[in-house]
Formats: sequence, structure tokens, C-alpha cells
Amino acid sequence: MDHFLYRDGELHAEDVSLRDIAQAVGTPFYCYSTATLTRHYQLFAEALAPLPHLVCFAVKANSNVAVLKHLGDLGAGMDVVSLGEYLRARAAGVPGERIVFSGVGKTRAEMRAALEGGIRQFNVESEPELEALSEVADSLGATAPITLRVNPDVDARTHEKIATGRKEDKFGVPLARAREIYARAARLPGLRVVGIDMHIGSQLTDLAPFEAAYTRMADLTRLLRADGHEIERLDLGGGLGIPYTRSNEAPPLPTDYGAMVRRVLGDLDCEIEIEPGRLIAGNAGVLVAQVIYRKEGEGRDFLILDAAMNDLIRPAMYGAHHDIVPLTEPEPGVALAPVDIVGPVCETGDTFARQRPMPPLAAGDLVAFRSAGAYGAVMASEYNTRPLIPEVLVKGDHFAVIRARPTFDEILARDTLPPWM
Ligand code: LLP
Repeated sequence: MDHFLYRDGELHAEDVSLRDIAQAVGTPFYCYSTATLTRHYQLFAEALAPLPHLVCFAVKANSNVAVLKHLGDLGAGMDVVSLGEYLRARAAGVPGERIVFSGVGKTRAEMRAALEGGIRQFNVESEPELEALSEVADSLGATAPITLRVNPDVDARTHEKIATGRKEDKFGVPLARAREIYARAARLPGLRVVGIDMHIGSQLTDLAPFEAAYTRMADLTRLLRADGHEIERLDLGGGLGIPYTRSNEAPPLPTDYGAMVRRVLGDLDCEIEIEPGRLIAGNAGVLVAQVIYRKEGEGRDFLILDAAMNDLIRPAMYGAHHDIVPLTEPEPGVALAPVDIVGPVCETGDTFARQRPMPPLAAGDLVAFRSAGAYGAVMASEYNTRPLIPEVLVKGDHFAVIRARPTFDEILARDTLPPWM
């Protein structure tokens, strides 16, 4: 459920008309709903509530500091994968004790900064990383709390580019070698084993792969404890999918996920950490754009929008579907006709939808891409020197710009000429 609904024939974000925001900030822009963020965070927190737990929002899904601050104020921890994300979480007021550091390529500089600034744990993904972290922590006279990300070799049955838990993927250490690598970790200076981490992929629409992975995690917990390790935390990663279409998709709910987690891992006396990104932020955001032209092609019409692949890359990159709806509610029973919805960027990949049945739309009309709150703004670029688009946060009947559109002067000022020019 989200808080983007038609009211009096106009699409609203909570109590604010998106058209009013468009008039104030111009198109295109991203708009997020505070109430939806809250609801999705609380669904997870409640689903896990009987167990000690920490919901660590995956910052990569939406890293706006205002969004992070809202979630952090609700009690969320953060899952970060770079120093930049760590600094965003800290800027949002999230204490280091609630930040977990994931990612296959943490640099020594990132490790040092996180150890100095405060960190809950590092999710270590390889032996070389283990050695590097040991060296860095030891040189600071610090102890780094660690889990090892274990690759359980399960197929998450999701898009090829976002599956991460198969043995051919670059993530984690092989399950078969986990005991040996944990033993090594226990011998290295500067490290303290606190748990196990897994993340098998994103946009999973079925609980079975999670259950297969967590069952392996439960077995490994018992083995590692028998080997003498203190396994007190289990980090389950993120990955629960969301419905991208209103109609036919029904991914499992956080409540079902929570029930499964409690069944598979509930008797291990561990603190459960999860790292959801998409499910918290995805349906809490829309991208609003305007139709620049309606162009009649040979055998098909094109709606050319002022938003493009550089603003929302998911359709071009993953062939992802986003529902696109007019801001003005179509009359009931209006005839839909297929149209290609594209952006202005100079490549054919800049296509949001092909032959999408749409109500009549003309130049000047406004549309919203649904489910754009996760992996939207964060993946944007300035390709074609199109300024990064603003982000707006709504709360009840208020809205505020939480990242302004840069001016062209600001964009041009970033480039500098070499001294010989
Ligand atoms: N934890 C780790 C270690 C991750 O790698 C990810 C996502 C998450 C948590 C959060 O997963 P979520 O709950 O959001 O599924 N750009 C792609 C998605 C990439 C996901 C990468 N890792 C997309 O737009 O679909």
C-alpha cells in the first residue's frame, strides 16, 4: 500500500496534489511520501518484533539525507556500501552502532573512516578483505566487529543482474569454506566475529529461496558455535520484492517473511538484522514528468517526456516495468491505446515502455512513474548534460524540496581547464 491516490480527479502524494508540486519545482522531479516510508519500515519492524532485531535500511536504494533521517528517527539502522553512504547515514544522525558496512570492495580508507567514526559491524566478503580489515583495525588499536557474508548457492530466481547468491556470483565466501575462513578470522588480530551475513538478491517474489538460504544459515550457526565462535547476530540481507504493476503481481508481504524468519531462525537466540531497501522506499516514491511532444511515427505513436533514462535507468538497464499514470485521473471507461513512452536522450535505449496501453495524452500533460522511490534518483546521471532532477518529500499537507535541481552554472563550474589551455 502507498499514499499516492487520486483525489478529486488529481493524483496526490498524501494530502498534496502532485500538480501543485510540479508548478512549484518544475518537471521532472522525484516525490516521496513520508507516510509510506513509515508504514513500510514499521511492517518490517513489527514482522520481526518478537525477536531482537534491527532493520537496517539499504541506503543504496535511496540515499537522500532527509529520507535517511526520517527512517533513522523511527529507529532504523542503515546498511551502507561506501564511505559516501556511511557519511550520508551519519549526516542523517544515525549513530555508528546502527550502521552495518557491506560490499565486496571496501577500501582500507573506508575501513579506517568507519572504525574511527563508529560502526556496528563489517560484513566481510573475502579473505583478502579479512586480512586488510585486520591490519587496519590492528594499526588503529581497534577491534572490528565482523560477520562473513556467506554465499549459500541458492538461485533467487530474479533478474540476472541482481541475483547475488549463486556460486558464480562475485559475492561472499563459499558456504563450503565458511568454517575454515571463520577459523582464520578468529586467529587474526583486530577482529571480533559477531555473526553471519547473507544477501541472495533483490526483487525476490517468492519466499522459497530465502527459506533455503536461511536454513543453511541456521545449520552454519550451529556448526560455527560448535567450533567455538560467538554467533550473536544473523544479517539476512534485503531483497523482498515489491509489486511494480497494480494488477498481477503479489510478492510476499513482510509479515509472511517475518513469520518464515521466526520459524527458521527463531530458536537460535540471535539478534536478527535485515537490510531492506526496495520494499521500504520503492513504492514510497514517484517520478513526475511532462509530455513534451506526442509524435506520430510509422505504425506507432511516441510520447516524448521530459524525463529520460538518465533520470530513471531501470527500464533501460533491466527492462524493468514501471506503471505510468496521468496526474489527471482518466474518465472511467476511457479507451486505452498503445503508445511508446520515451525520453529525449539520443539513444533508442531511452525507452520507458513500448506499446503501453495509455489513455489519451497530449503535449503538456503530466504523468507519474510509480514505484520509483528505490533505485531511481540514486542511479541517475547527468548524461546529455541533463541536470539531476530534484527530490521532494511530502508529509501530510506539507512538501519540501530535499535536493534542489542544480543550475547549469553549477554543473559547468565542476569542469576545470588544464593549465596549458
Ligand atoms: N543488502 C545488500 C548487501 C544488497 O546488495 C542489497 C541490494 C540490499 C541489501 C537491498 O536489497 P533490496 O531490499 O533493495 O532488494 N539497482 C537494482 C537493484 C540492485 C540491488 C543491489 N543490492 C534495481 O534497480 O533493481
